Amino acid sequence: MNFIFLGPPGSGKGTQAKRVCEQLDILHLSTGDVLRDAVKNGTDLGKQAQKFMEAGDLVPDELIVGIIEEKLQSGQLDNGFVLDGFPRTVPQAEALKKMMDKNDKRIDSAILLDVSDEEVIKRLSGRFTCPNCGAMYNYPYNMPKKENVCDKCGHPELVRRPDDEEAVVKNRLEVYQKQTAPIVGFYRNESLLREISAEGALEEITDAVLKVMKEAR
Ligand code: AP5
Repeated sequence: MNFIFLGPPGSGKGTQAKRVCEQLDILHLSTGDVLRDAVKNGTDLGKQAQKFMEAGDLVPDELIVGIIEEKLQSGQLDNGFVLDGFPRTVPQAEALKKMMDKNDKRIDSAILLDVSDEEVIKRLSGRFTCPNCGAMYNYPYNMPKKENVCDKCGHPELVRRPDDEEAVVKNRLEVYQKQTAPIVGFYRNESLLREISAEGALEEITDAVLKVMKEAR
């Protein structure tokens, strides 16, 4: 089972990918998470990516394609995967197609999570993450039981992502429209596109995503 989750920032790609990958026991690969780890650890990749991420711009294609190529070659994607946040440009989509062909693999579907800009702004202004275990919360949609304390690991401070500041979110939405939205047409042409309305209860969206994934196999 090999899937791509597409959609604007804050559409729930990460949230839904975690939920379905846990149920289906396949790998969740978020390029955003890989890059944030690289920034945190001060690696060369992190140093090159940081200024783009802080501005809400895309990191150059060659850096990202290199990450996916390495994961494919290492065998980490052999038992099925959801790609969350990749591809994000038409050249990335074309590079993925070549890499998949070369490794004798195929994408089952590219699933587009549809949400309005207003909902994105609301969600991202309320997003908090645990810096210790990565658990995600949202005020007011999905609050931790004890204020500012992680339910999962008990870490006593939840943090906001620097790129969730309002001005950066506006740029991320513009970047999405200009550079990422064209890949919707790319996957429509490949007959791989599936669309899901991603506003509403988390559980209902997960059910809709799982249904589409099972039908695509
Ligand atoms: P990345 O981390 O991929 O950010 P993004 O695509 O902007 O997506 P987000 O993580 O913000 O949102 P999401 O759709 O995963 O939503 P989430 O589940 O968190 O990338 C960050 C940066 O890295 C990019 O700007 C770029 O610089 C760089 N980058 C990464 N990949 C790249 C690539 N391929 N090429 C070039 N550059 C790249 O949900 C959001 C919030 O909403 C959460 O608080 C959640 O709890 C809440 N929520 C989710 N679903 C619901 C719901 N149904 N109802 C209410 N709240 C909900």
